[in-house]
Amino acid sequence: MTSSPFAPSARSAVAPFEVMDVLATVARMRAEGREVISLCAGEPSQGAPSAVHAAAARTHAEQRSLGYTPALGIAPLRAAIAGHYARWYGLDLDPSEVAVTTGSSGGFVLAFLAAFDHGDRVALAQPGYPAYRNILASLGCEVVDIETGPAERYQPTVAQLEAAHAQAPLAGLVLASPANPTGTMVDRGELTAIAAWCSAHGVRLVSDEIYHGVTYADPASPDAKGVCAREIDEHAIVVSSFSKYWGMTGWRLGWLLVPQDLRAAVDALAGNIALCPPAGAQEAAVAAFTEESYAQGEAARLDFARAREVLLEHAPELGWGAAAPADGAFYYWAELGDQLAGFADAREYASALLEATGVAVTPGGDFDPVVGSRCVRLSLAAGPDAIAEALDRIITWQASRR
Ligand SMILES: Cc1ncc(COP(=O)(O)O)c(C=O)c1O
Repeated sequence: MTSSPFAPSARSAVAPFEVMDVLATVARMRAEGREVISLCAGEPSQGAPSAVHAAAARTHAEQRSLGYTPALGIAPLRAAIAGHYARWYGLDLDPSEVAVTTGSSGGFVLAFLAAFDHGDRVALAQPGYPAYRNILASLGCEVVDIETGPAERYQPTVAQLEAAHAQAPLAGLVLASPANPTGTMVDRGELTAIAAWCSAHGVRLVSDEIYHGVTYADPASPDAKGVCAREIDEHAIVVSSFSKYWGMTGWRLGWLLVPQDLRAAVDALAGNIALCPPAGAQEAAVAAFTEESYAQGEAARLDFARAREVLLEHAPELGWGAAAPADGAFYYWAELGDQLAGFADAREYASALLEATGVAVTPGGDFDPVVGSRCVRLSLAAGPDAIAEALDRIITWQASRR
């Protein structure tokens, strides 16, 4: 092969994920016939609701043409999503406010392109979901890290935003509640304060609500499913997805609630970038809003809640450091504390743990370039029994190293 006179663009220089090494080792061990408990999954295990599967089967059996749909999605799905906001949040939305996207990932690209210009400063909580920073950076935005920890419950505060804005004006803030990897949520009071600060300073709020519904407060309490930023700020962009509550990761469907001032831009961008979200998945997803489908989402939530209970009950025996409260989503984020002794970083700890015990955890570097090297993320998606067994193995292994 001759050497290429070309090179990848500077903007595509996205850091590779640390978890890839762990996943490669998991695959190798399984191929060797070893049993592995993976607590790395960022997806729920229950799969799509049965009504969605049935609708997909019907669509294919009838051999519907499944051509391009309107760029922002088919009308019945946009209406069904608007109806979901009435059901969960008491919000009366017009379906024209809903843009169906190729997963929330596709929604982020549209939202960032529509809202921000090259060079705009956009604030993010660290630790946080790595795609925000990587997409923003590759679009030419300046990522402004807001370091959060136990003192802030791992969510940005108005005082921190104020300080970042004083250095140079911010154009945007991406907020996730529940967040990945910490699972923390902002309550109505905090969200109201943050949204008011954003409005007063011309900062566009982008609210990632894809884990709404996967939450552990008493379901009867107000705001148990999460507070929707659209209730508070009509200029906020809300990002959501079928991937988590409905367990439909591979169907690649999400949505945006697009404020009036961005609708034409999002429509034009969506048509150019993807033409439309997947047609078959859209047809099927209308059935995600039936009573039966909501009941299945609730059953999955209860399963995560059981796994979370097991984890929180035994967490003190791990002897780790500070941990996030896991209000929602299906993650547990913790500092390794004294258990990191003898290892260069969490990556080395995770790889030794995996080889010795067959338990895979995600090292934290992907989520936080500063403190992540001392942290790990555990996913509850493996279920309560697997969590109990994994914790037992970790505790025994750590004790054997002393
Ligand atoms: C916080 C957060 N936002 C967005 C996504 C993207 O999900 P999807 O594109 O499947 O909707 C993920 C995936 O794990 C996530 O954790």
